[in-house]
Amino acid sequence: MSEDTRISTGDAFENLLHEERRFPPSEDFAAHAIATAELYEQGKEGPGFWARQARELLTWHEDFSQALDWSEAPFAKWFVGGKVNAAYNALDRHVEQGRGDRVAIHFEGEPGDTRTYTYAELTTAVKKAANAFESLGVAKGDRVAVYLPMIPEAVITMLACARIGAVHSVVFGGFSADALRSRIDDAEAKLVVTSDGTYRRGKPSALKPAVDGALERPGHTVENVVVVKRNGEPVEWTEGRDTWWDDVVGPASDEHTAEGHDSEHPLFILYTSGTTGKPKGILHTTGGFLTQTAFTQKYTFDLHPETDVFWCTADIGWVTGHSYVAYSPLVNGATQLMYEGTPDTPHQGRWWELIEKYKVSILYTAPTAIRTFMKWGRDIPAKFDLSSIRVLGSVGEPINPEAWMWYREIIGGNGGRSDTRAPIVDTWWQTETGAHMVSPLPGVTACKPGSAQVAMPGIAVDVVDEMGQSVPNGSGGYLVIREPWPAMLRGIWGDPERFKETYWSRFDNMYFAGDGAKRDEDGDIWLLGRVDDVMNVSGHRLSTTEIESALVSHPSVAEAAVVGASDETTGEAVVAFVILRGSAAQDDDVVTTLRNHVAKEIGPIAKPRNILVVPELPKTRSGKIMRRLLKDVAEGREVGDATTLSDPTIMQQIAASLRK
Ligand code: WTA
Repeated sequence: MSEDTRISTGDAFENLLHEERRFPPSEDFAAHAIATAELYEQGKEGPGFWARQARELLTWHEDFSQALDWSEAPFAKWFVGGKVNAAYNALDRHVEQGRGDRVAIHFEGEPGDTRTYTYAELTTAVKKAANAFESLGVAKGDRVAVYLPMIPEAVITMLACARIGAVHSVVFGGFSADALRSRIDDAEAKLVVTSDGTYRRGKPSALKPAVDGALERPGHTVENVVVVKRNGEPVEWTEGRDTWWDDVVGPASDEHTAEGHDSEHPLFILYTSGTTGKPKGILHTTGGFLTQTAFTQKYTFDLHPETDVFWCTADIGWVTGHSYVAYSPLVNGATQLMYEGTPDTPHQGRWWELIEKYKVSILYTAPTAIRTFMKWGRDIPAKFDLSSIRVLGSVGEPINPEAWMWYREIIGGNGGRSDTRAPIVDTWWQTETGAHMVSPLPGVTACKPGSAQVAMPGIAVDVVDEMGQSVPNGSGGYLVIREPWPAMLRGIWGDPERFKETYWSRFDNMYFAGDGAKRDEDGDIWLLGRVDDVMNVSGHRLSTTEIESALVSHPSVAEAAVVGASDETTGEAVVAFVILRGSAAQDDDVVTTLRNHVAKEIGPIAKPRNILVVPELPKTRSGKIMRRLLKDVAEGREVGDATTLSDPTIMQQIAASLRK
């Protein structure tokens, strides 16, 4: 391990060690909980356990003959020989089994417009979209780029692709035209589904121009662009390429038979940041992904599909929106809420108002949101009736105990008015893992504020040292996964070597997650953040290298180094150190120019919070930038050991330049 990737066992964990609070489930909750302690015993069976889950939770067109084929490790095949259709499992079968009138999606737009889809209606909508996409020449195996806001058509599009066996690649609406283009090119997408725009903070905001921008330069593979009319703002139109959703999906037939696809048929590609400048297309396939997402949604959230209203606040542009919005709630036949807008529009109580209105019983969100609500004050949620809430979930980054306690008291305890408190499940997982891997089980686990605690049943998670040996309780190391799991990524699109190198080369026969972790004295797992060059800003993964590449692509920048500095609200914030070229230093607006440049290259989410202009960057003798030292500067700390720098005076020069 190089100096910069060595794990810091710093203060964070020491503070957490003083966290002594334990919250066992109430007797009443435990009595009605779906999960039981036996589930962990059953999970030890490994592939056999998952085979039972696959048959119980899914309806197979054809049964499989083998649970797991690991003979070409690390390339796994789950439920070998089975045939399954994701859309059939999410839709048709519920209708066939008499659940057609159950609400699948309550949609609320930011301006307050609403739409409700029952399972029967959503099934029809997806069949029509599937026919429409086929009429545009999309066939099994083709890739479809999806660039949509949080509106029902996003889920309809994903399921329509899955139905016909086309592979969706959803690109978050906050990514720029350039970022969209590189993802379209990498996957060689044939169709793009987008909208004129959406609503953001009370105003229409455009999406179609980014698609136009992405496709401006010739040499791409896109034949058609389907455009959902959402905000009615005027858009540019390319005849022969662009079609309104209503014009192509509207007249399409509502009859469409779902064929069973191979269990290992690709379901989707989702790009995520890695340690190099180029995003990785994480590939997921059908049977294993559906099994583990359905399993975890049911047990991690104690889902009772007849009575619960589930709300996962993640955007479909991220994996959480794939696993826990588009797929598992529907596969499990649950009712869910989908909300288009921001939490502070038209007022800061919007989420709580929605929970009261739709009687949301399971809320799944990110610590960054919780910390923002804490800042806004507890009297805002206290104005609403949150008594419907039974289970709370957290995802995306470590949740600090203070935020955990606030979440429990104020949201899970109805503003402190309730006698009971909803259990909190802190779920650790990744785009690559596809589904929850470490989480308490409500009704079973005594929860600890700040800890994700235990591996899910059937999952073999461990914390190991530099040599790959399990660490004893009370020690830290790297989080690894020792056995294959059903929803694991099957590779990186078009780059099998990078897949092996990134995840399977650090330790023998183990998946290396890139996260530091510790085991406490009880053996519970605490996540300590990334140990590689990946940052986590508001639960969004960003790569330091990718932002550095964006910065140096600007003519004013000679060199750039980016670090994630801890931030009270967003977890981490992007801080960039740049060396400017010649005359650029005289330009007063250079910092603004560079922030906007990053937004253009990657997207507004990647804009650095601070850009610091420095004369030099600290490098080791081998030329590697010592980000650890820059992080000290960015976080306002005394700079650590700088003796391995090629020029040890550089940190003083940097400090002097920042004082100016
Ligand atoms: C981090 C999001 C601590 C972690 C589902 C991981 C977490 C990365 C947690 C994956 C958690 C996610 N506690 N850290 N409960 N959940 N992470 O791919 O660093 O967007 O490697 O998937 O987020 O981010 P991704």
